[in-house]
Amino acid sequence: MLRGALGQGWRTVADSPPPGPFRRGFWRSPIRGPWLTAVLGSVLLVGITILFVTGLASYAAYNPDLRSNDMTPGKGLLGFYLFDWPTEPYWLYRLNQGVHVTLGIVLVPVLLAKLWSVIPKLFDWPPVRSLAQLVERVSLLLLVGGAIFEFATGIVNIQYWYQPLPGSFYSLHFYGAWVFIGAFVVHVGIRFPRMVRALRSRSLRDELRTGTAATRPEPLDEHGLVAADPAPPTMSRRGALGLVGAGSLTLFVATAGQSLGGPLRRTALLAPRGQILGSGPNGFQVNKTAFAAGVTAAQTGQSWRLELVGAGAPVAFDRDELLAMPQHSAQLPIACVEGWSTSNQLWSGVRLADLARLAGRPDAASVLIESVQRGSAFANASMRRNQILDSRSLLALRVNGADLSLDHGFPARVIVPAAPGVHNTKWVARMTFVEA
Ligand code: HEM
Repeated sequence: MLRGALGQGWRTVADSPPPGPFRRGFWRSPIRGPWLTAVLGSVLLVGITILFVTGLASYAAYNPDLRSNDMTPGKGLLGFYLFDWPTEPYWLYRLNQGVHVTLGIVLVPVLLAKLWSVIPKLFDWPPVRSLAQLVERVSLLLLVGGAIFEFATGIVNIQYWYQPLPGSFYSLHFYGAWVFIGAFVVHVGIRFPRMVRALRSRSLRDELRTGTAATRPEPLDEHGLVAADPAPPTMSRRGALGLVGAGSLTLFVATAGQSLGGPLRRTALLAPRGQILGSGPNGFQVNKTAFAAGVTAAQTGQSWRLELVGAGAPVAFDRDELLAMPQHSAQLPIACVEGWSTSNQLWSGVRLADLARLAGRPDAASVLIESVQRGSAFANASMRRNQILDSRSLLALRVNGADLSLDHGFPARVIVPAAPGVHNTKWVARMTFVEA
């Protein structure tokens, strides 16, 4: 009897949603429906797949399995796919991060529109109907929360607002990506057939020819996306897609120049490092100045030496001795994980391969590069054999025909093709070549 009364009570609760968004009549847009959701979903399907692949590639580019490079300690099995990051083509990291960051920004309007298009489903009543539905709702929480988390942490990071982050960006964004992509795969797996059905239900071409006055709601659907009591149209589906497209295009114009260069560089108004060119003899962007990195003139002055450690006793060279060694040149960009990059700069200096030989380890498996900079995770970087042996990998002493400026790493900095910008260590003090 108690069971019967409970069942009756539950049915009453289920049949009387609280006023507001939990009631179906609350959502009245006549353009909301499976077709619009499916169009936005298909754009996200392609876009987020590219974001995930380029994100994983960027992590691999850090060679996190070499000592001192791991930005996400304890990644465990999630490092299963790591591979030796190549040096060819030299613009690989520039392309990878340009795509990752630009696409992440350009997809924001699409994500917001997708969330708008399914918002009635987030207010489903009753919130829990069965165990299966509870599991589905938790997966939606991970999907929506994960998407918002990944986009928010990415944007906060490229805008240099590190303060709001509760921990290291690398760990948060890396683990967040795996949680989000897990929920994403489940969502796509379940919704893909519905997406295909919905896309087939209307012609995109016809929708693009339909103005506001002729806009009609989609037929009522069993899933409750289409408004039960639609308001008169104030915008067509064409208008809605146009608005999203215009938003994405505006964001593209306001950011892409930081990676692409050319005339768009001037319009990259939302890109803190990418728009302006640096001053001084070297004429390209400075990410972190010597002052900001706590590097002093005393550390980089007359007493500065490059120490090489390898087989046998360490050897040290001053800058003039390095300049007296065979000098080589390479045209390479600096490409930052945050998406901005420079055009090619003409670097000259001593080959890393020659330094490995001087250290008595011509066949070194890796090199640990240490800066005079202190107290930063980025003051050290390790490179592996393929990077040491590339003939364009240099300990650069000059750039664009002038000595390196202090902000660009005087007396000497590393430049390696296709390596993340932050691994091109500035103000190098010591290089330790190791065999294994
Ligand atoms: C950031 C990524 C995404 C988020 C945050 C998101 C969020 C949501 C939410 C909250 C719902 C409503 C709950 C449900 O019915 O499952 C939904 C429905 C749906 N989503 Fe997504 N989604 C995303 C990506 C995608 C992608 C890539 C596709 C392509 C397959 C897609 C296709 C659909 C479809 C077909 C529906 C059902 C619409 C209906 O009820 O007819 N979504 N999405």
